[in-house]
This record gives sequence, structure tokens and C-alpha cells, in this order.
Amino acid sequence: MPANILDGAATAEKIRNQVAEEVARRVAEGKPAPGLATVLVGDNPASQVYVRSKHRACQQVGIQSFAYELPETASQKEVEDLVRSLNADPRVHGILVQLPLPSGLDEERVLGAISIEKDVDGFHPVNIGRLAQKGREPLFVPCTPAGCMVLLQSVLPDLNGVNAVVLGRSNIVGMPVALLLVRANATVTICHSRTRNLPEVCRNADVLVAAVGKPEMVRGDWVKPGAVVIDVGINRIEDPTRPRGYRLVGDVAFDEVSQVAGWITPVPGGVGPMTIAMLLQNTLRAARLARG
Ligand code: GUN
Repeated sequence: MPANILDGAATAEKIRNQVAEEVARRVAEGKPAPGLATVLVGDNPASQVYVRSKHRACQQVGIQSFAYELPETASQKEVEDLVRSLNADPRVHGILVQLPLPSGLDEERVLGAISIEKDVDGFHPVNIGRLAQKGREPLFVPCTPAGCMVLLQSVLPDLNGVNAVVLGRSNIVGMPVALLLVRANATVTICHSRTRNLPEVCRNADVLVAAVGKPEMVRGDWVKPGAVVIDVGINRIEDPTRPRGYRLVGDVAFDEVSQVAGWITPVPGGVGPMTIAMLLQNTLRAARLARG
């Protein structure tokens, strides 16, 4: 039986509507609109597209957004000075530094300069450290991992003892999603380029999260029948039949895996829209933290 589709676009729309309602209520009470500042350094085309869509989403829900752009040649001090000025700006409740930064910049120091109360990406070392520790609560959870968990728990709310396999150990997705799964009491295996017998490890997964950036790497025979498969990949592959000459595919071979899995996120329309919905939610939370 083909898998059920985990519809990220529909779930994200619901969340955006809830955010929009609360923003409108706050503004009607005389509170300022939540504000998000983005910092884009350099001219990475994919980052430009992502940042633009974040601003568009803010506009749709009534969140004010402020776009800051620095050239590829910006110094460490210039980037950190900008972050510190945004920390002090009362219109700005959330700060997002788009990653990756150009080589030569120290990402850890830039992220560490963000005030943790404005760290809507959840990448500040204190927020990540709290996420990794028992009994501690981060102020913000990274957006893509949070979106994965919302979709996953919409069909599998109880993750106690569930075998979860995460493909990829990036700071942005793999590692934080693994931490969230551990916090939800799943038994978690993190796989990466050195993992042995990858298909076999994946076949043991009740929940499989693919975040490696390799088009259609996960094949049908890697997946346990009935598993929940969350595909974080967004890869362009050439396709001359498409007007743009390419199409988007995930890290999962959808046609094969959807014959085996119980639930699967599509690409596009799965995790992607959830990332931005979580960012809007985090920005609203930051405004609440600032003003009550
Ligand atoms: N680059 C890719 N994904 C993300 C994200 O979620 N946040 C930031 N800041 N940069 C990214």
C-alpha cells in the first residue's frame, strides 16, 4: 500500500495563520509588531532565495522584517558589530544570520554574538548546549529540526522507545534533530559518511530522517515497511522537460520509498515550508519574551 503523505505545506499554512492571528491580536492591544532582522553576508544565490522567502513570509503574517546585507569581503568585526547593533535595536525581536557565512568568517563567534533572547534560529552555543542537556530548556529550537518534529509527531505523537535513524550530522539539521528525538525518548542512531552498512542500519528505523544533501540517496529497500520517513533534502537535478531545466528532489527516492513507508514527506511541500513557519513562530515567541 502506498505511503500516506505528510503535508508540510498544509501544516505550515495552519501555523502561519495562527501566528498571523496572534500578531494581529498583539498589535490591536497596542503592542509593537514582532520584528525579524536577517543578516546576509555575500551573494550565495541559494541563501538570497531563502532570505527573500523569509521576508515574504514575515510580511504575510504581519511580522516586520529588516534585511541587512554585507559584502563577501565584510570583516569579522563588521559582521559582529552589525549583530550587536541589532541586539540593541528594540524593533528587532529576532536575529537570523543566514548560513553558510563566506569562508574566513568565524561562524561560531558570529552566532555567539547574538543575544540568546533574539536567537530565533536557535544556533547560539547556549541554546544548542541547553538542547543537548537533560533538564535544561533552550529559549529557541532550530527551525528545520523543529519543523521535522511537528510533522513527525502529527502522526506519531509518542516516540518513547521508537528506533529513529538520522542521516547526516550537520549543525543546522542532523545534530539538533537527533537531540530533539532523544529528548522525546526515541532511541537514536546518527549516520554519516563513515557509517558502515548504511542500508541495513536504515532498515531498522521506525523513523528515518534524511538530511545529507544527496539526491535520492535513500532507496526503497533501505526502508522498514510502515516507517515514517522525513526528507529534509532539497536538491536540484537536471531535467530538460521542465521549464527551468531542473527539478527539486529530496534525499529520498520518493517513488520507491513511498511504496514501502507508512508516511513520507514530499519534496517540495514537506519539511521546506515548515522551516519558515517555525521561524515565524520563534519570532513571535521572541516578541513575547521581550514584552510579555
Ligand atoms: N542555512 C540553511 N538553513 C538555514 C537555517 O535554518 N538558518 C540559517 N540561519 N541559515 C540556514
